[in-house]
Amino acid sequence: MWNTVALRSLGRLSPNATSPPLPRLQTLKNRVLERKSRDLHRGKQPAHVLQDQGLERTRDVLPCRLGSNKAKYRRWAKTYPVLDGRILSVYRHVFEGNLRNSEAVIKRYSELLETVSKGGGENAILRHTQRNKKLFVRERLKLLLDDESFLELSPLAGLNMPYGDVPAAGCLTGIGKICGVWCVFMANDATVKGGTIYPIGVKKQLRAQEIAMQNRLLSVYLVDSGGAFLPLQSELFPDKSHGGRVFYNEAIMSALRIPQVAVVCGSCVAGGAYVPTMAEETVIIDKIGTLFLAGPPLVKAATGEYVSPEDLGGAKLHSEVSGCSDHFASSEKEAYECIRNVISTLNYDPLPEEVIEHDSPLYSSDELLGLAPQDYRCTLPVKLILSRLMDGSRFQEFKANYGTTLVTGFGHMEGHLVGIVANNGELSHDASLKGSHFVQLCSQRSLPILFLQNTAPHTAEPTSISQAKAHSNRLKAQASMMAAVACAAVPKITIVIGGCYGSESYVMCGRSFSPNFLFLWPNARVALVDSRHFSTVPQAGDNDCTGDESELKHLKEKLEEESSAFYSSARLWDGGVILPQNTRKVIAQCLEIIEQQKYQVISPCQYPVIRM
Ligand code: COA
Repeated sequence: MWNTVALRSLGRLSPNATSPPLPRLQTLKNRVLERKSRDLHRGKQPAHVLQDQGLERTRDVLPCRLGSNKAKYRRWAKTYPVLDGRILSVYRHVFEGNLRNSEAVIKRYSELLETVSKGGGENAILRHTQRNKKLFVRERLKLLLDDESFLELSPLAGLNMPYGDVPAAGCLTGIGKICGVWCVFMANDATVKGGTIYPIGVKKQLRAQEIAMQNRLLSVYLVDSGGAFLPLQSELFPDKSHGGRVFYNEAIMSALRIPQVAVVCGSCVAGGAYVPTMAEETVIIDKIGTLFLAGPPLVKAATGEYVSPEDLGGAKLHSEVSGCSDHFASSEKEAYECIRNVISTLNYDPLPEEVIEHDSPLYSSDELLGLAPQDYRCTLPVKLILSRLMDGSRFQEFKANYGTTLVTGFGHMEGHLVGIVANNGELSHDASLKGSHFVQLCSQRSLPILFLQNTAPHTAEPTSISQAKAHSNRLKAQASMMAAVACAAVPKITIVIGGCYGSESYVMCGRSFSPNFLFLWPNARVALVDSRHFSTVPQAGDNDCTGDESELKHLKEKLEEESSAFYSSARLWDGGVILPQNTRKVIAQCLEIIEQQKYQVISPCQYPVIRM
């Protein structure tokens, strides 16, 4: 993340500074933009700081190098050494085993996606489209977005929750282009229990807002929600990261000059009513959109009076009387055309349409299925994976012969230059020092970092003094790398290609280290410990591990289930599961999305847009 938090922690920025220093290679254009912006807003102090969320105000004027990517690519990309990606015959049996495992987990993945694509099920879709005369949420996205090449986030969220299945957490989120600009969308799916918000739905919306803030992406809300899912109200209402945080974030984002617009395309009851009302501009659809704090049944219960939804809070009322909406649309189609027009007035510059001709990797991406480890013991050299991800399979390695259990270096991903940090064994003392050094290089050069995470499960306890000493040294080096990663003031993308185990996962920019994006391969395993390492049940307060067979079996099964990529994704510990063969495309898309903020002129602003 390019932000001031990290710069401050590195001591490059005074705590009260409003704008971070710009890099040495700043272009003339950028300097002019900065001066203009300063003149415009001289004397103003930044207002809202998201310190407690770790989401401080992003820089007022982003440092950027507007030099042509195309020219840079032409000049340098083809000079990096080519990786040898041949799979040696000694690796064949491991490759075949991994392949079989990948096919099995991908089959499961496809089944889950298929379930999720049907929202609340066929009956609920019929009720939604035939009786309530509304478009299914995925049809709405087709009308809203420029094309279908959007990046859906966490589609498997909400499956197998303690309170049941909530397909896609009842709310689709993702990043797509509108009028050429990458935008975050959050769209309720009213076929899932009337679009009501479950705890996992709140988490999903907050995560989408976090992504919008981190990457400075304007946001569109398609609201069709019965408000809180009442049986779980205590898990939704009072706490800091509960429902109210969505509204708080709306104000903060507006103050940070991250615009948000909304379409009321169904019921907006209770909490749901604040989402469009706090948006900067809102469209409401006649006969479909309603907005109120308490619906007709509650009015009847309280007053005995029947009032129709239209009269209580329909499109005409809110466009002509209350002012809760700014645009009246007579159909869904008209509403999405209107919101696209609104977005075109935001003065947001899309990325330049510069197509960088890039080379494909020399090896087939389908072979990644055999390289995706089913188990830590089945891990093959990570450079085999890199040779199937990088442009032209080219890689400029850093410290190739030192700390070789971590591979670091530079390469291009569909024309974007990135720094790569990839596990290639246990994160030893030397490997961690090398990682710290490399991450700082990337930060210094303003280069995004891609972490390919495959961390080792917990290893055996030390059995000698010298081993204990080695463990302490490794701990110290890993702590240095954690600090370097946490404070690197550049975008970070993490792909868990194998294991995400214990503390090494933090060093490799796991979820708690706030990467801009984090995805898992379907074979990934996420857990503090590996179930396969248990031969006895650990007993609390007793070093002698005992416990009977059935207890051990139960513990292993539980750990096994809780380690799967799908379990993780259902709980939003990641941005979604992606297929290994699509990884290059997804990373390139993320890099493009992240890059959009470089082309914005952002000036300090104290207040959000307040609805009048
Ligand atoms: N909490 C829990 N469940 C709810 C709910 C809520 N707030 N609102 C709706 N549901 C459930 C319904 O019980 C129904 O469940 P079922 O499919 O198992 O029968 C399902 O969601 C769909 O509701 P239904 O009323 O049949 O659909 P609809 O499309 O005709 O209407 C709403 C949807 C949201 C407009 C309507 O259900 C409604 O007004 N709900 C009350 C909203 C409310 O008062 N919220 C206050 C939150 S603080």
